[in-house]
Amino acid sequence: MTTPDTTPDLKNQQPPEENGAWRTLLSCTWKTPLGLMGISITTISITLLIIGTFAHMVGLIHNHYAAIFTFMVLPAGMLIGLLIIPLACFMRRKGWFGKTLTAEQLTINLSDSKHRKTIILFLVLTVINITLLGVVSYEGYHFTDSPYFCGVVCHEVMDPEYTAYQRSPHAKVSCVECHIGPGANWYVQAKLSGLRQVKAVFDGDFSRPIPAPVEHLRPARDTCEQCHWPEKFHGKKVKSYVSFSNRNQTEPYVQDIALHIGGRNPVTDSFEGIHWHVSNDIKVEYQPLDKKRTQIGKIKVTKSSGVTEEYTIDGAEESTQEWRTMDCIDCHNRPTHVYDDLEERVDFGLLSKKINPEIDGIREDSITVLKKEYTTRNDASEQIVETLLALQAKRHGNDFVAENEESLIASGSFLLETYLNNVWPAMSVTWGTYREHLGHRYADEGFGCFRCHDEEHSTEFGKVISQDCAMCHDEPE
Ligand code: HEC
Ligand code: HEC
Ligand code: HEC
Ligand code: HEC
Ligand code: HEC
Repeated sequence: MTTPDTTPDLKNQQPPEENGAWRTLLSCTWKTPLGLMGISITTISITLLIIGTFAHMVGLIHNHYAAIFTFMVLPAGMLIGLLIIPLACFMRRKGWFGKTLTAEQLTINLSDSKHRKTIILFLVLTVINITLLGVVSYEGYHFTDSPYFCGVVCHEVMDPEYTAYQRSPHAKVSCVECHIGPGANWYVQAKLSGLRQVKAVFDGDFSRPIPAPVEHLRPARDTCEQCHWPEKFHGKKVKSYVSFSNRNQTEPYVQDIALHIGGRNPVTDSFEGIHWHVSNDIKVEYQPLDKKRTQIGKIKVTKSSGVTEEYTIDGAEESTQEWRTMDCIDCHNRPTHVYDDLEERVDFGLLSKKINPEIDGIREDSITVLKKEYTTRNDASEQIVETLLALQAKRHGNDFVAENEESLIASGSFLLETYLNNVWPAMSVTWGTYREHLGHRYADEGFGCFRCHDEEHSTEFGKVISQDCAMCHDEPE
C-alpha cells in the first residue's frame, strides 16, 4: 500500500487536500499503540492460523491442545485484531486532524483511481479473511465433534465416560454418532445444550454422577441403527462365565449359556428371540414408575396387524412418567460406557494370572482393597498396592510379603488399573453407579430383563411376561 509520507506532527498540518485525509487515517493507524496492537494481533493470528490449519489438514499436528488453540483462540484473536484497527483510527481521529476533518474529505470517490485501488485491495483482503475463517470454522466444527473435544475439554466431568468408552467395542465410533446422530436439527439442539453444559461446568453446577438414563437421548433408530439393524440378527451367541470363590482361587467355575439372539425364522418368517422387541413387526412401549426406569408399570405391545396387548402391575396407574418406545438402549444401556463388575474383574485377574492365584487369600484381599474408599484417585494410586501388601502381611506375616513382593506388587498394580478404570470419587462414580440392563444379574437392584419378565405384569386375561429360562438361553451343545 502507500508508504507513510506524512510527518507525525499532525496537529499543525494544513487541512489535507483531496484524498489526504484517507491516507493519513490509514497510514497512521500503526503509529498509535492501540492500532499497532490490532495490526500485530491480526498479523500474528492470521499467520499462525494459516500454518496451524494447514498442519492439521495434512496431519502434521496431532496434538489436541494445539487444535484448541488453532480453532478457538486464533480465530478469536484474528477477529478481535481486525476490530481493533478501525477502532484505533476512530479514537484518534480528533488527535490527528483536530477540527480540520470534514465529512467531505472522508467521502469515497470512485472516479479517483487511488480510491478504486484501495477499495479493490480491501475487498480482496476481506474475501481472503472470510475464506480463511470459513476453512477454520469448518475444521473447528469437526473438532468440536471429536471424541477428544467431548471427553477431554471437560476433563473432570466426562473422564469416567471417556475412559470407559476408550476401552469399549465402540472406541472408534465418535461420541456424536450416538449422542447426536445425523441431521441439522439435532445438531443445533446438541450444540445449544452443549453450551448450557459448558456454562454448568464453569459454574460447577452439575450433578455428580451425571444421571443415567440420559433423558432425551436420540432414539436408537437414528443412531445405533445407522450401523446395526435388527433384521440382521440371527442365531445364538454363546457366552462363558468364569468365576472363582474365596475358597477356590485356582479352579474356575465355568458356565456356558447360548443366548437366543433372535432373527427371522426362515420357515415362519416371523421374528423371534431376544431382538424381537425391536424388530420391524413389533412395537413395545412402556411407562416406567421412576426416572431411572428401574421399575416398569404398564407395557404395551403392538403387532404389525395392529393388535395390541397391554400388561400392567399394581401401582402402575399412579405413574406420571412419559411413555417410551423400547429400543436398543433399554437393554444395551452401556454399549460403550462399560464399567466393570468388581468381583468379575478380580476373577478375570485370577484367570489371566495378573493376580497371582497361588497366593492364599488374595481374592478376598483384592476385593477388600477395591471396595475400600479412597478420597481421590491420587490417594488410590498411592495406597492400593500398599493396602494389598498390608492385608497380606496381616494374613501371612512380613516375611511372606518380602518373599513374594514382586508378585504382590504386580497383583496390586492390576488392582490399581482396575480401580482407575471404574472409580472417580470427584464425580461420585464408584462400583455399581452405572448398572447395565443386559441379563438379570442386577435384578434385585431393578436392572435387566426381569423388570418386565417377572411373571407379574399381566394382561386383563391373566397372561404374564414369561421368565422361562429356555426362552432366552439354553445350554450350548
Ligand atoms: C455407541 C454409542 C455411544 C458412544 C460412541 C458414546 N456414547 Fe455416551 N452414552 C451412550 C448411551 C446409550 C448412553 C445412555 C446410558 C443410559 O441412558 O443409561 C450414554 C450416556 C452418556 C453420558 C451420561 C452418563 C452415563 O454414563 O450414562 C455421558 C456424559 C456420555 N454418554 C458421554 C459420552 C462421551 C463424552 C462420548 C465420547 C467420548 C460418548 N458418550 C460416546 C452411547 C454412546
Ligand atoms: C458408527 C457405527 C456404530 C454405531 C453408531 C453403533 N455401533 Fe455398535 N458396533 C459398531 C461396531 C463396528 C461394532 C463391532 C466392534 C467389534 O467387534 O469390536 C459394534 C459392536 C456392538 C455390539 C457388540 C459388542 C460386543 O461386546 O461384542 C453391541 C451390543 C452394539 N454395538 C450396540 C450398539 C448400540 C446399542 C448402539 C447405539 C447406542 C450402537 N451399537 C451404535 C458400530 C457402531
Ligand atoms: C430386549 C433387550 C434387547 C434389545 C431391545 C436389543 N438388544 Fe441387542 N442384545 C441383547 C442381548 C441380551 C444380547 C446378547 C448379550 C451379549 O452379547 O452380551 C444382544 C446382542 C447384541 C449384539 C451382538 C450380537 C452378536 O451376534 O454378537 C448387537 C450388535 C446388538 N445386540 C445390537 C442391538 C441393537 C442395534 C439394538 C437396537 C436395534 C438391540 N441390540 C436391541 C438384548 C437386546
Ligand atoms: C419393557 C419390558 C421388557 C423388557 C425390559 C424386556 N422384555 Fe422381553 N418381552 C417383553 C414382552 C412384552 C414380550 C412379549 C411377551 C409375550 O408376548 O408373551 C417379550 C418377549 C421376549 C422374548 C420372546 C420373543 C419371541 O420370540 O416371541 C424374548 C426372548 C425376550 N423377551 C427376551 C428379553 C431379554 C433377554 C430381555 C433383557 C435383555 C428382555 N426381554 C427385556 C417385554 C420386555
Ligand atoms: C428374559 C430373558 C431371560 C430369562 C427368562 C432368563 N435369562 Fe438368564 N440371562 C439372560 C441374558 C440376556 C443373559 C446374559 C447377560 C449378559 O450378556 O451377560 C443371562 C445370563 C444368565 C446367566 C449367567 C450370568 C449370570 O447372571 O450369572 C445365568 C446363570 C442365567 N442367565 C440363568 C438363568 C436362569 C436359571 C433362568 C431361569 C430361571 C434365566 N436365566 C432366565 C436372559 C434371561
